[in-house]
Amino acid sequence: MNDTSTSDSFENVSLVFFGGKGGVGKSTTSAATATHLARLNPSARVLLISFDMAHNLSDLFDTEIGDKITEILPNMHAIEPDAERYTEEFVSTFVEKAKSLAYSLPIVKKLTNLEEYIEDSFSAASIPLAVKNSIFFEEIITKAGEFDVFVVDMPPTGNMISIFEVPRTSIQILLKNTLESMDKVISFLRKIRKINPLHWFKSPKKEQRNTARELLDMLRELDKRGDLVMKLLKERSSLRFVSIAERPSYEEIRRAKQIVGKYVRLDGVVINKINPPSCQCECCISESENQKKYIDMIEHEFQDQNIWKAEKMMTETIGIEKLVEFGKMLYKNNEYGEILHPSINGDDDVK
Ligand SMILES: Nc1ncnc2c1ncn2[C@@H]1O[C@H](COP(=O)(O)OP(=O)(O)OP(=O)(O)O)[C@@H](O)[C@H]1O
Ligand SMILES: [Mg+2]
Repeated sequence: MNDTSTSDSFENVSLVFFGGKGGVGKSTTSAATATHLARLNPSARVLLISFDMAHNLSDLFDTEIGDKITEILPNMHAIEPDAERYTEEFVSTFVEKAKSLAYSLPIVKKLTNLEEYIEDSFSAASIPLAVKNSIFFEEIITKAGEFDVFVVDMPPTGNMISIFEVPRTSIQILLKNTLESMDKVISFLRKIRKINPLHWFKSPKKEQRNTARELLDMLRELDKRGDLVMKLLKERSSLRFVSIAERPSYEEIRRAKQIVGKYVRLDGVVINKINPPSCQCECCISESENQKKYIDMIEHEFQDQNIWKAEKMMTETIGIEKLVEFGKMLYKNNEYGEILHPSINGDDDVK
């Protein structure tokens, strides 16, 4: 996976995404799945990534992870990437080049108030968050190093969809943004020219042409990386929803199901925090009845996909031992390959 510029280097990579409503257990399920896969197959190299800005993998493993690839097991690592750091390099270089192109217009040196205008128009802050997210997504997937399996803890549903969506559109947004800023500067120059019609505009110099070319190269590179991410999403990825057996969570995954299919293969649902049968207090009995209703609805809605179930644990799901317990509860005797690539109705090899 050293040559990140070719998609061939990703031929054997698998990505497993966990998404769903806030607080349903996405991080716990992601952490338990990564741990379980790594234990089932010691020769697989697993990376657990948090794509949620509100990282909590460190809390789950009770160890400091942060923005560095951190060993959890010999063949399993985790990272809570700092999205800003990943995007900063690309965005700031891009902004600097666009700014230098605007500054190279001959009039700029003569008008001090235009400087302020350019500084405002071309700043990292003016790049939409969606584009930064997309660059971050591409960076981490394409540059994470030597891993076979990426288990990805996604942010709650809305943000998750925008992450899937952006590789498609980031290039257009960035280009549109730059052209709009450039357009503002040029129309400002035109107004001034009317007042004082001197020959401000000369034909572009060599350096200007080079900067423009460099900007275009950066956009092309982004476009290429966007294509690679789209390909990885389409061909090498599996999305699983995590839901609890309650109405808001059920409704959210039911709606999201209609949207995500065009980006990624949906393999099923983890129904989490199901009351164990041993829970027989009055309150639990009534909650369990309600849960039963939503479990049936989820099973019906996702009858073509897989359903994994996890009971509500009586103690905190923190630390590797608890996560191992959670993984076993979820995947029972399933083998590594079945967990990574579960079949769904419509596949050629139906289970
Ligand atoms: N099966 C379970 N039994 C008991 N507690 C659980 C279970 N699954 C998750 N939890 C607890 O529920 C809380 C939320 O879990 P988690 O952080 O994994 O959810 P999340 O979907 O990642 O949340 P967020 O949207 O805030 O990132 C945590 O306190 C976690 O320990
Ligand atoms: Mg979480």
